[in-house]
Amino acid sequence: MILSIESSCDDSSIAITDIKTKKLIYHKKISQELEHSVYGGVVPELAARLHVEALPKILVECQEYFPKLKAIAVTNAPGLSVTLMEGVTMAKALSLSFNIPLIAVNHLKGHIYSLFIEKEEVFPSTILLVSGGHTQIIEANSLSDMKIIASTIDDSFGESFDKVSKMMGLGYPGGPIVQENGIKGNENRFDFPVPLRQSPKIEFSYSGLKNAVRLQIEKLGDKEINEQDKYDVCASFEKTAVAHIMQKVKKLFKKKIPLNFAIVGGASANIRLRTSIEELCNKNKTKLFLSELKYCSDNAAMIGRVAIEQYKQKDFISIEDIDIQTRIKERSLPL
Ligand code: KG4
Ligand code: ZN
Repeated sequence: MILSIESSCDDSSIAITDIKTKKLIYHKKISQELEHSVYGGVVPELAARLHVEALPKILVECQEYFPKLKAIAVTNAPGLSVTLMEGVTMAKALSLSFNIPLIAVNHLKGHIYSLFIEKEEVFPSTILLVSGGHTQIIEANSLSDMKIIASTIDDSFGESFDKVSKMMGLGYPGGPIVQENGIKGNENRFDFPVPLRQSPKIEFSYSGLKNAVRLQIEKLGDKEINEQDKYDVCASFEKTAVAHIMQKVKKLFKKKIPLNFAIVGGASANIRLRTSIEELCNKNKTKLFLSELKYCSDNAAMIGRVAIEQYKQKDFISIEDIDIQTRIKERSLPL
């Protein structure tokens, strides 16, 4: 079995995965959403301190599996440096004391492998990754052959929901909150501009849309705006944010219809996005893969699923060499 640790942002999570059967034997996640909600976003130092409390609490529940462990896996990039450090430090200590190999897992690959938890891999696949930190389209042929073919030039899809929510004092994380409020709103009340509409390039941008929403809220009277205004801003913003993704994904389909398409990452829980992609895939006879809602946001089960493949390839790292990386600079995975 492999014990996997995830602490790249505001979720402390540990999973135990069976290498042979790919079964998820144990999985627990402690989210810090409530603690960060008052600040309208993740406070890295607070997140790190909460990981220090939560990770050992989860670890003691896994004690019965310790004798069966063959490796320790941990997310080492990308993420917040102070929070990644907590998971990596625990993983190093466990690897050293059990005298078993250490596996460094890329968080984005984790999101991709959330599709394959307790399942076989499906490749080749075109993957839309939408999270709080990333908005990318990845061409994936195997774990070691993945290429980022489109990404955001500024903010991410998920982050724009967080910011719009914060602007109206609605709480964190913004994704589910904006979605929920938007259901009661009129999506046609505000005509926000679809980003990069005229550009032939397949890339994303959310800073302009965020700004347009900010200006609209200011016009309405900032924090004084009434409930219906908030619902209408949420609905109109969500419609535009999804329209932007859909416009670019359609462009991609026009170039070449993918055999398999998938949406992963915390923001892939967005219903409007899921439904729109579903329609597009149905129309083009593309097979669509979605991770289960409980595995969309950060979790250690997806890290464990990647770790199984890395274990088979003996892709280990020494405790001296494991490093944390906050960002991925290259346009290809792995780092
Ligand atoms: O993957 P994830 O858990 O963490 C990162 O790796 O960033 O994604 C969290 C992000 C947050 O920005 C959150 O607001 C967004 O995903 N999110 C959503 C929805 N649910 C979560 N965004 C839009 N619609 C949703 N339903
Ligand atoms: Zn994530």
